[in-house]
Amino acid sequence: TTSDKHVFFVFGASGDLAKKKIYPTLWSLYRDGLVPENIHFIGYARSQLTTEKIFENAHKYMKVKDDEHEAYEKFLKLNSYVPGSYDKAEDFEHLHSETNKITKQPTAHRYFYLALPPSVYDSVSEMISKHCRPESPGLLRLIVEKPFGKDLESSNKLSEHLNKSYSEEEIYRIDHYLGKEMVQNIIVLRFSNKIFSRVWNRDSIAAVNIIFKEDIGTQGRGGYFDEFGIIRDVIQNHLMQILSILAMEKPRSTTGEDIRDEKVKVLRCIAPIKLEDVVIGQYTGDKESTDPEHQEGYLDDKGVPKDSTTPTFAQVVLFVNNERWDGVPFILRAGKALNEKKAEIRIQFRDVPGGMFDDNIQENNPNGKLARDELVIRVQPNEAVYLKLNTKRPGEMDFSIEETELDLTYKERYQDVKLPDAYERLILDVFTGSKINFVRSDELQEAWRIVDPVLAEIDKKKIPVIPYKFGAVGLREAFAGAAKHGYIYTGTYVWKDERSG
Ligand code: BG6
Repeated sequence: TTSDKHVFFVFGASGDLAKKKIYPTLWSLYRDGLVPENIHFIGYARSQLTTEKIFENAHKYMKVKDDEHEAYEKFLKLNSYVPGSYDKAEDFEHLHSETNKITKQPTAHRYFYLALPPSVYDSVSEMISKHCRPESPGLLRLIVEKPFGKDLESSNKLSEHLNKSYSEEEIYRIDHYLGKEMVQNIIVLRFSNKIFSRVWNRDSIAAVNIIFKEDIGTQGRGGYFDEFGIIRDVIQNHLMQILSILAMEKPRSTTGEDIRDEKVKVLRCIAPIKLEDVVIGQYTGDKESTDPEHQEGYLDDKGVPKDSTTPTFAQVVLFVNNERWDGVPFILRAGKALNEKKAEIRIQFRDVPGGMFDDNIQENNPNGKLARDELVIRVQPNEAVYLKLNTKRPGEMDFSIEETELDLTYKERYQDVKLPDAYERLILDVFTGSKINFVRSDELQEAWRIVDPVLAEIDKKKIPVIPYKFGAVGLREAFAGAAKHGYIYTGTYVWKDERSG
């Protein structure tokens, strides 16, 4: 028996994620010739829909260019839709037989993407395994998205449930931050450059900041968000994944298992977050803003209860208790409804010892010390890696010192390169069977172990959220917290575009 056909299923085909991300991703992979040949796509959801209707709804996200219409028509022909419940065996049996009718190959490989609310995860995953498995040697891959539970216990329960029907091999847990160019680049920067390997430790690094900022509020997603809050929504997954790659030891190879082994090892060295190292906030509407979105606070979102204390901003500090990192604070900060959209990593180096330049320090530096070197990896937007360092102020006759940067801004250096969307890379990985950029169950468990106690404590003690205005730069309390842990912000550095005006 051969197995040269492929079927990609989109569960929750009528939903938001399918419309905004999954279908557009499938289309662009198809357009770029990156999906396997002989593929068919099947949408599945409860509503009585048609493929036409689904693509009509998704149209504005598909971004079909003028010269792509022919290819797009071909893509549409590869799609089908099957309606059905999320819990009845006969509906899944029906899906199974429809699939065989379409492929005429019961061994065709099957990929199931669950773009579904967590409430139906259990039944859908069970039903798929029971009724929709391909015949051998066809492969099955199950792609799941967060939330993977709400806390350690519910996450473990979900993992146990999946383990009953699937091998770890078959499960692809998406954390879309792992699909971002600059997150993947951390591994190359760290381990292919001698210059970094020698300084990547507590002797040279004073603090690490991992920052996520958004300039939008919950935008109607309040109903989902309110149950989770920013720590579960962004920190426990996206930022802790970044942390584990930044802090891990050198993997033996670039294979998924070797990399994930190291990531999980480093997470094991992190103690649960302490309440005293947490700052939480919630945005309020800025009544003076001319932007109607900014006038709405979190509590104005229709899905949010009026007395909600769910944080939309949080900063937590973690310590990796091993020889490399002992004592170095990893400050993870995430907030919605701030002044800008930006995700970046700041590795701040220690002070230069000795007072040789005491008389030459930039006058406006409130610290009276040389500015610290800082390596910044800007994940988005406008991907860049730059190293802030001190230089002799150009043209001066003395040793006046000025802060400057070695700058690798992608759009300048790599003008013709298109960086694929995170989902494109990840779905491509599912086809090729690469596990590097997916979260293993033990990683997930460790990440929950670290945030779980403090989340419970915040709930139990009803820790109040600090209000901040939509559009704020950040929270004073968070900046103070970072400073307390040794991250120095002087405000003296000026990015070059602003210098030249
Ligand atoms: C998601 C969160 O995982 O990531 C959202 O649930 C957040 O709240 C989003 O907006 C951010 O993703 P990106 O790729 O736009 O930075």
